[in-house]
Amino acid sequence: MILTLTKTIAIPLLLAALNVNAQQQNITYKVIASPYTSDQSVVVVVDNTVWPLTNTLGIMYQGVAPIAQTEYHYAIMESNQQVNTTEEFTRSPVSESTVNEFFNREKNSYQIKSLPNVMTPLHSINRIQSDLHIEGQISTIHIWGNASAVSLLHENQLEDLDVELNFTYIGLQEVHTFENVKVSLAGRSSRYIPKLSYGLKMKKKSDDNLFGYKNLKLRSLGMDPSYIRECVAYSTLKAAGLPASGFSYVRLFINNKPIGLYGLIETFQDPWVASQFAGGDKNYESGYLYQGVTAGDNQTLPVMSNLDYHSNISYYNAGEYKIKAGPSKKNDEDYTRLQNFTQFIRDANAETTVEEWRQQLDTDGFLRSMVLENLLGLSDAYMTLVNNFYLYSDPKSSGQLVFFAADLDTTLGISLFEMNMMLSGNFTEHPGFTFQPLTKKIFSYEAFSTPYQELLLNLTNSLVNPTIMNPFIDSVVTMITRDVKWDDALPKIGSFNIPPISNTTIDDSMSLEIFPPGLRRSWSEEAPQTFESAVNGPSNSTTMESVKDFIAKKSQAIITFFNN
Ligand SMILES: *[C@@H]1O[C@H](CO)[C@@H](O)[C@H](O)[C@H]1NC(C)=O
Ligand SMILES: *[C@@H]1O[C@H](CO)[C@@H](O)[C@H](O)[C@H]1NC(C)=O
Ligand SMILES: *[C@@H]1O[C@H](CO)[C@@H](O)[C@H](O)[C@H]1NC(C)=O
Ligand SMILES: *[C@@H]1O[C@H](CO)[C@@H](O)[C@H](O)[C@H]1NC(C)=O
Ligand SMILES: *[C@@H]1O[C@H](CO)[C@@H](O)[C@H](O)[C@H]1NC(C)=O
Ligand SMILES: *[C@@H]1O[C@H](CO)[C@@H](O)[C@H](O)[C@H]1NC(C)=O
Ligand SMILES: *[C@@H]1O[C@H](CO)[C@@H](O)[C@H](O)[C@H]1NC(C)=O
Ligand SMILES: *[C@@H]1O[C@H](CO)[C@@H](O)[C@H](O)[C@H]1NC(C)=O
Ligand SMILES: *[C@@H]1O[C@H](CO)[C@@H](O)[C@H](O)[C@H]1NC(C)=O
Ligand SMILES: *[C@@H]1O[C@H](CO)[C@@H](O)[C@H](O)[C@H]1NC(C)=O
Ligand SMILES: *[C@@H]1O[C@H](CO)[C@@H](O)[C@H](O)[C@H]1NC(C)=O
Repeated sequence: MILTLTKTIAIPLLLAALNVNAQQQNITYKVIASPYTSDQSVVVVVDNTVWPLTNTLGIMYQGVAPIAQTEYHYAIMESNQQVNTTEEFTRSPVSESTVNEFFNREKNSYQIKSLPNVMTPLHSINRIQSDLHIEGQISTIHIWGNASAVSLLHENQLEDLDVELNFTYIGLQEVHTFENVKVSLAGRSSRYIPKLSYGLKMKKKSDDNLFGYKNLKLRSLGMDPSYIRECVAYSTLKAAGLPASGFSYVRLFINNKPIGLYGLIETFQDPWVASQFAGGDKNYESGYLYQGVTAGDNQTLPVMSNLDYHSNISYYNAGEYKIKAGPSKKNDEDYTRLQNFTQFIRDANAETTVEEWRQQLDTDGFLRSMVLENLLGLSDAYMTLVNNFYLYSDPKSSGQLVFFAADLDTTLGISLFEMNMMLSGNFTEHPGFTFQPLTKKIFSYEAFSTPYQELLLNLTNSLVNPTIMNPFIDSVVTMITRDVKWDDALPKIGSFNIPPISNTTIDDSMSLEIFPPGLRRSWSEEAPQTFESAVNGPSNSTTMESVKDFIAKKSQAIITFFNN
């Protein structure tokens, strides 16, 4: 009896004491926000009391206020202290200083249902541990400084300029600022649309790096109404143990103005090779990293990056292949390793052994890559347009070439080739499979063709199917939905710059010869897609598939094909 009495009195007393303490205790509130005008301010409202926040870093507002009893939220105030915008929800009290929160985003982090790592990474991979791409979080990148440099960049949308600016990375906990970073517009076709992509390059001769990386790309995702194709594709390459950039979402600001939701990826330039293949070793001397780009801008020699052999080595240096890393990058001789490989491809015959192939190429990795070109419907890749592929000459394996892919936007239901071919379960129908020199030759060997087919079926069953992928996709979609709405509503900096299709560049007779059959010619009937329909379907289009419909139809087609 006495005991009970003590308890019932003691507990409320104890709670009251805690409350008194809590009322007195201040914490720091921090939120990223962008008021519409300079005379507006940002405040935190704690249990109905307004506390001012001060601006730091241009877009961050922070200040001291008591721990909340019931709720807190942030608001944008007019200069007359009337509320302009208040958050759409209230936040639960926190007892310690907040992380770097974001205005009008209810959660700071999300639980992502990751893809399973179904294959061990290729033996050449030795990737650094890095917090660059934190799953379940959306960081912020603020590019700032010289306003005329920003204008110069945006007013010359089609030109290759770079300007010096600063940028600040704001994660939940960490803030890092970098000065004198080279900022450029990135991509080729991505410059035709008003939501621009950017490249960030930190000074070579400095220790500056963001979680181990010096060169980054901010992908606008502007041609993908689902916003998730690149995220899904990069995550799948990684799950299959291939070399690949990581991918994460960031919110981009330029000089205090919100620009939009972007994909952050790594640029394949030194020191990237060391971070992917040598655990970040500062003394690592990278081998040659060749990139196939179909053909260079203004290229005059009629050669493409299809891995055809040319006896004249200067043909490799005509623009169709770039060298992204290596001892030197400009001279014809720098293409020797590539020429040697293409000669091997041309000359390989019935006597050529699997071992000889393996001395030239990491064939396991190449098979995985070709499986994923097919399964993910990569329509601007090696098999399709001899584009966006890399061959790394790995010094650890005496120059064995490692194949990998990048630039994964026209995938998973957006296609430059006829959709029925991309959805085929018959792997020989994938555009380019029997057309491009390397696939044509290597898959003429049963020793490669049989494991290729097994792997196609294995990765369909273990990875690229709705059961595995949809939970991942759904969890990412949940994380980005509010930011997609934000992105959609923001004014775009750039303009449409679609060049007139000249009859000479994609001449019918010419492209029939140089590209595999199935390249689309008509782009007129594209139905507009909402975020929801681009992810889940129906696409209401004969030329596009939603991401989920593509995965469902493709995996079903493969399984049906191999069942017969
Ligand atoms: C909490 O912060 C407010 C506003 O800065 C200040 O007036 C108050 O004295 C602080 N209280 C404590 C216990 O530090
Ligand atoms: C908030 O401020 C902007 C810019 O001044 C203004 O256009 C908008 O109408 C304001 N909203 C409200 C609800 O006052
Ligand atoms: C970068 O920041 C520094 C220090 O605030 C400033 O002096 C410099 O002008 C900025 N650089 C640019 C390009 O705006
Ligand atoms: C700002 O950028 C412009 C264009 O790149 C350049 O001409 C100018 O010198 C820069 N100003 C400063 C102070 O660096
Ligand atoms: C290609 O040619 C155009 C027009 O002559 C020129 O403006 C552009 O700078 C050239 N591009 C390259 C990469 O040389
Ligand atoms: C190789 O091709 C280049 C043009 O790219 C040409 O100038 C050169 O004469 C050629 N060399 C030989 C040996 O044919
Ligand atoms: C490629 O280079 C290797 C080693 O230097 C050499 O043994 C081989 O004969 C070359 N292959 C071709 C096709 O030239
Ligand atoms: C697969 O496609 C190729 C090329 O179109 C065709 O020759 C072959 O008969 C097809 N295989 C099956 C099993 O349908
Ligand atoms: C495919 O999976 C089967 C069964 O798990 C396995 O025996 C086979 O080695 C796998 N093949 C490849 C190419 O991974
Ligand atoms: C391309 O050719 C067609 C028919 O030959 C012609 O009608 C059209 O104007 C041409 N387009 C351009 C951009 O030259
Ligand atoms: C599909 O597209 C057609 C033509 O663009 C349009 O009339 C129809 O309403 C669309 N249906 C849906 C379900 O979006």
